[in-house]
Amino acid sequence: MPTGTNHFPTPIFQHEVSDFAEQNEKLLALVTRLRETDPSGVRRSNYGGWHSSDQVDVRALPELADVKKVIMETATFVVAGMGFEGLGMVMNEAWFTVSPAGAMNARHSHPRSFLSGAYYVKVPVGSSPLCFHDPRPVKPYATPASPNFKVTPYTTEMLTCQVREGLLVLFPGWLDHSVPPHQGEGERVVLSFNFVAL
Ligand SMILES: [Fe+2]
Repeated sequence: MPTGTNHFPTPIFQHEVSDFAEQNEKLLALVTRLRETDPSGVRRSNYGGWHSSDQVDVRALPELADVKKVIMETATFVVAGMGFEGLGMVMNEAWFTVSPAGAMNARHSHPRSFLSGAYYVKVPVGSSPLCFHDPRPVKPYATPASPNFKVTPYTTEMLTCQVREGLLVLFPGWLDHSVPPHQGEGERVVLSFNFVAL
């Protein structure tokens, strides 16, 4: 029998934050306050919705202390498993996005970041997934008309990550991702962030 190994993996990590309800209420109240003081926000990868601006450094706000601790612990664990044990990292950016129905995020990456991520504060039923795109520059398998073709990690060009409240997703900043138009009833609220290595 042949033997095979997988190489050059693309790491996408998920972590369910425990007892998130109270924390998320706190974060939602914070987002409401930030939107009141800066109703237009900024436009980044988002089409529609609200994206917090740099007027306020959300990383420094006390409401973020607990979730930042979990994010840091998880990121430290994850990068240690990748071969970077003991690496110094700092969360150099964090921002909130609020997506009503129809709002979306175009395909993009965070090229200067070692690690990026999203923490899901509010996820109405029917919310669209977070999509990751195959980073390889050419399609490795040309999807031949195989009668038994299956979508596998080898053949797929896009991974859809179903999101839910309390979910933390970490991925390398170089990995392209997007969010299709939000379909849920009510607004989806996400805290996103980047890490740089020291
Ligand atoms: Fe992003």
